[in-house]
Amino acid sequence: MIGLFDSGLGGLSVVRAVRAVLPRHDLCYLADTAFCPYGPLPAATVRARALACAGWLVEQGAGLVVVACNTATSAALEQLRATLPVPVVGMEPGIKPAVAATRSGRVAVLATSGTLGGARFARLAERFATGVELQTVACPAMVELVEAGELAGPRAEAVVAAYVAPLIAEGVDTLVLGCTHFPPLRPLIAAVAPAATIIDTGPAVAAQTARVARATGVGPGAARLRCATTGDPAMVAPTLARVWGTALPLEHAAC
Ligand code: DGL
Repeated sequence: MIGLFDSGLGGLSVVRAVRAVLPRHDLCYLADTAFCPYGPLPAATVRARALACAGWLVEQGAGLVVVACNTATSAALEQLRATLPVPVVGMEPGIKPAVAATRSGRVAVLATSGTLGGARFARLAERFATGVELQTVACPAMVELVEAGELAGPRAEAVVAAYVAPLIAEGVDTLVLGCTHFPPLRPLIAAVAPAATIIDTGPAVAAQTARVARATGVGPGAARLRCATTGDPAMVAPTLARVWGTALPLEHAAC
């Protein structure tokens, strides 16, 4: 079984991408709703939560853990790899493909303050953002929209436009979705920036997950998708249904 976790429902965008390449694998998704959002939390707190969530997934039988969260990857990937008895796949904003795609030379990364303020992001930018103007924007209100299941409508459109429209007006032509909560808002982002290239690393993370699963013998199962939350399942289930597209059973995880 492959375990995936995020602060909340954003990581479902990674679950979707993993399902597309590994349709028969059993997946277990944990939303750490009780501690969402991770973005503004100190890195040490996010690290502790990442270790707790990944540990829970391993207890449930995960043979591979995917950190379906840029913020948790930034805060905890090394510790997770050093601590867990299973391989760990992380994710980070797609600066490299964005630099390859831009024509205007202006790229913007939409992410959390935790991701953008971390040493991992600084290293990534230094390595790949050469010869381009890189802007970074923390978008906490977009995380809130997804946690509320508000993926459409005038309020959601206004929130997205407030972040994205000024970037487009400044000549940004490539937007990096550096937070797993943002792919569900992609239609709204594309409506504000119809000519922009939008980079989502979900499919690349899924391809890497498939490679690691193959290399480490985590094979197909019965295509089960088990979902858990550290919050109240009764509160989270309707939102999960909206973000995933159909209702899914949701259990409580005590971790
Ligand atoms: N979805 C997460 C990420 O990729 C974190 C969002 C949050 O909890 O602030 O960064």
